[in-house]
Amino acid sequence: MATFLVRNSNPLQGSIRINGSKNAALPILAASILAENGQVVLSSIPDLTDVRFLCEILQGIGCTVAMHADGKVTVDASRITNHITPYDLASRMRGSFLVMGPMLARMGICRISLPGGCPIGSRPVDLHMKGLRALGAKVTQGYGYIEVRAKKLIGNKIYLDFPSVGATENILMAAVRAAGETVIENAAVEPEVVDLANFLCAMGADITGAGTDSITIQGVSALHGAQHTVIPDRIEAGSFMAAAAITRGHITLSHVLPAHVSPVSAKLREMGVDVREEADQITLDATRKFHAVDIKTLPFPGFPTDMQAQLMALLSLTEGTSIIVETIFENRFMHAPELQRMGAHIKVEGRTAVIEGVRSLSGAPVRATDLRAGAALVLAGLAAKGDTEISDIHHIERGYADFAGRLRSLGADIHRID
Ligand code: UD1
Repeated sequence: MATFLVRNSNPLQGSIRINGSKNAALPILAASILAENGQVVLSSIPDLTDVRFLCEILQGIGCTVAMHADGKVTVDASRITNHITPYDLASRMRGSFLVMGPMLARMGICRISLPGGCPIGSRPVDLHMKGLRALGAKVTQGYGYIEVRAKKLIGNKIYLDFPSVGATENILMAAVRAAGETVIENAAVEPEVVDLANFLCAMGADITGAGTDSITIQGVSALHGAQHTVIPDRIEAGSFMAAAAITRGHITLSHVLPAHVSPVSAKLREMGVDVREEADQITLDATRKFHAVDIKTLPFPGFPTDMQAQLMALLSLTEGTSIIVETIFENRFMHAPELQRMGAHIKVEGRTAVIEGVRSLSGAPVRATDLRAGAALVLAGLAAKGDTEISDIHHIERGYADFAGRLRSLGADIHRID
């Protein structure tokens, strides 16, 4: 099993180009299923295990998928045949569940295993089901599978009890082919939802209001192939910013949309880190002393839950007491005990973590319990004294392409050991 060996590093310096967004690429790849004719040509698709899994799922249902070295992926979904997604692939990653909406819309049926992915809380799919049922789908469950089927989808008004990103995306991808009008209320407003809606419109869909909490969809009779470039990954960007901050470095990110990263930039600024934004660039200077802050995770444009672990690592080494409240997932502090092994002072009670900044951390063997928790341990390792050996890095590789190599390009001492 591969591990990361991380050693105390000099302040990170230099510049790095941010990759395309994982969380935008996954629903957009799933939406390719809707193209009855013509090719889908996607650019800026990150080279991640989650993306590869999803491409294999698309191939499993009859799509022709080609992945090119430059982040270009082509999908031909004109001859899909199979409504059953490969069980083991789909059960491994939560993002796989996003094929349900488009498969239902295209084939009238989809059978898929209950989703896997990061073990952060129970992560139910009731809101996805509520939405698809409202469009006329019948949902059955058995032998580890969920099956949805509908002869015809009919537009409806759907209120989400929580603005779930995945449920909004799944319902959107089904509603584009439903007869008449669908309105999703209390919809997720995340930039990845907007990117998906833009792609669906390029395929011929009629969607208004994406990026607000009320999305209106007028169903169309068919969608076709289209070209699309995926937005930059705001979480990868935020992770590199946190990595620079924890090493007291000075770096520039390019190919980034500052408005998408602003909840993270604002928090770092509040800590006293110098963050400067230009059109598609962010420069971060963490060479001056900074201080503790409180964080509450919220749906966009609040502070992203996907950056909570990385900021906990940073706050562990920041003078003063910080409080983090996690409101999105109920079990997303699994990095806390691992950071404690490295000498961090963190007390967790329910959804709240209290962090007393310490002067130094020390390296230890630690385990990446999920994707962002793993990233947090990498950051802690860069600033800790001695060696940090991180196991279960397959979690990290689900969301960061060549994390070690990219950090090394900024001067970090990190190696992947096979
Ligand atoms: C997506 C992101 C993930 C991010 C999360 C929140 C992808 C592939 N993943 O995950 O990185 O951390 O948004 O920004 O885009 N919920 C329900 N019922 C449902 C669906 C969700 O109760 O049917 C709950 C979840 O358990 C969780 C909350 O809603 O507590 C948010 O989940 P959701 O927004 O759906 O996250 P994902 O789409 O799974």
